[in-house]
Amino acid sequence: MNQHVPTKQNVPAAQSALCAAYGPWAVVTGASDGIGRAFAIELARQGFSLVLVARRGAALDDLADEVKRRFGVKALALVADLASFAQTARLDSETRDIDVGLIVLAAGYGGSGPFVDASQQAELGMIDLNCRALAQSAQDFSRRFVARGRGALVLMSSLVAFQGVPRAANYAATKAYVQTLAEGLAVELKGSGVDVLASAPGPVVSGFGARSGMKIASGQTPEEVARGTLRALGRRTTVRPGFLAKALEASLSLLPRYFRVRVMAKVMAGMTGA
Ligand SMILES: NC(=O)c1ccc[n+]([C@@H]2O[C@H](COP(=O)([O-])OP(=O)(O)OC[C@H]3O[C@@H](n4cnc5c(N)ncnc54)[C@H](OP(=O)(O)O)[C@@H]3O)[C@@H](O)[C@H]2O)c1
Repeated sequence: MNQHVPTKQNVPAAQSALCAAYGPWAVVTGASDGIGRAFAIELARQGFSLVLVARRGAALDDLADEVKRRFGVKALALVADLASFAQTARLDSETRDIDVGLIVLAAGYGGSGPFVDASQQAELGMIDLNCRALAQSAQDFSRRFVARGRGALVLMSSLVAFQGVPRAANYAATKAYVQTLAEGLAVELKGSGVDVLASAPGPVVSGFGARSGMKIASGQTPEEVARGTLRALGRRTTVRPGFLAKALEASLSLLPRYFRVRVMAKVMAGMTGA
């Protein structure tokens, strides 16, 4: 881990109500790109110092420099492949001396196309990252936050979590796992001072589309997702951040689950050029 010390020129960020409630430090996984990166910048703007986690160390170092320069917070880069149990365990062990009060679990990837044709390594790796690593860190940090008497976990769910999705069957199943874990954990931790929030956006324009083989030409921005999610933290258990997520959920929620699956089949066919 590379420690970055704020320079004299930095102007400290004003501490927000969120930082006063959960801070002073936050961990963000998937911080090198997309939604995780947007969370990191928004949290730094609100006064949090950050532990930034992903595999691409150079991107994390650049982001750490940026948030230190712009907001005067502290930032550390922790390079880890969270598909590995041992490397996920480092998030806990290497931050033990830091007063972490919030964790955003945004690292994840998806897939597209028929499950029978997909690479088994990619599909099982998706379960390792989206589910196993997320559960591991959620448990490690829940324990710390309960002992500390306050804290918050943000779990990246998705619109796809609420029904089966043909051509992204395994990905949608991983997000159903995240959504269900968040709902149960939120109630378990009620009264402990620890809040849990599942964030379920619709399509977001980020590196995700290219990595998952989906065409996401238009959608929400990562910044909209991060801000909308943080506004809901401590107020509810699930948030559909932004207008598009709310509109899509409102229209889908009118349909029986069977039809939702059929609608998602058409949406995915459009997004994968099938
Ligand atoms: N984009 C969407 O439409 C959308 C919609 C709903 C929910 N989501 C969810 O939101 C989360 C973030 O998605 P995004 O749109 O920001 O995707 P993204 O732009 O592709 O970013 C994914 C992040 O995860 C990190 N990551 C991937 N594999 C990793 C690994 N093995 N170990 C550690 N870090 C890893 C990547 O960093 P490195 O490559 O540097 O490791 C990157 O920082 C995901 O959980 C996704 O399922 C996305």
